Amino acid sequence: MIAKGWWPPAVGLAATLLFAGSFRIGPALAQGGSFAEKLELCGACHGEDGNSKMEKIPSLAGQPAFFILNQLFLMREGVRNVEAMAPIVKDLKDDDLDKLSKHYAAQQPKRSEEKLDRALAKRGGEVLEERRCTSCHLRTLAGQDQVPRISKQRIDYLIMSLKSYRDTQRPGADTAMSAPIAGASDADIEALAHYLWSH
Ligand code: HEC
Ligand code: HEC
Repeated sequence: MIAKGWWPPAVGLAATLLFAGSFRIGPALAQGGSFAEKLELCGACHGEDGNSKMEKIPSLAGQPAFFILNQLFLMREGVRNVEAMAPIVKDLKDDDLDKLSKHYAAQQPKRSEEKLDRALAKRGGEVLEERRCTSCHLRTLAGQDQVPRISKQRIDYLIMSLKSYRDTQRPGADTAMSAPIAGASDADIEALAHYLWSH
């Protein structure tokens, strides 16, 4: 279990420099596979066009490139420890991270086939205003820089990730989400997820 808040701001800084292409971390790791092969691998879980059809796996389409890059970087360094992703990211070079981020940022986000509960979505809009989520995720909910897009994301993934921020169980999570989601009930989180998916 990774203690909350241990992640030094320097990691974010390193990612910034990496993004700018002026910083190289470690030697190039495994070389294997073309870019197309890597995309195929990602697509097996995240959907061919970056829109996930799989339960609790996030869509990547339309995420800010910097958010994707930052998360891939954190996963490769083992800070955000995602079991399913660990064997995949460990072999990615800085250049791969950069290309993959830009690729998915340019894809069109599409809703999953999950079922909308209109009453919940309506309530979710109120929770969103009360908790001022748009101050960081923007009115469009499309995110910016290291703040992710939350519109049209999968409902099941939104519920899972919001609960993990609330319960401080997301490894390597930026503390930015701690206060906004503190004390939210499960019902509020479900409502938020239905609202976000439908917007
Ligand atoms: C075996 C399935 C699998 C494969 C293959 C896979 N991923 Fe993932 N990925 C996941 C899961 C599961 C999560 C989220 C888990 C969590 O937060 O608990 C995730 C999370 C992510 C995230 C964080 C997104 C967010 O919204 O927080 C990014 C970025 C990502 N993956 C990119 C990639 C890329 C790029 C590839 C190909 C190089 C890839 N993934 C291949 C399963 C996979
Ligand atoms: C102070 C700025 C800020 C506010 C306010 C904020 N967020 Fe976030 N949010 C972030 C940042 C930064 C991240 C990425 C954190 C990380 O690296 O784990 C994030 C991540 C998320 C994620 C994870 C998405 C993914 O793809 O993994 C969800 C869902 C989310 N926020 C929803 C919300 C909701 C709903 C609210 C209102 C209750 C909210 N946020 C308020 C900054 C904010």
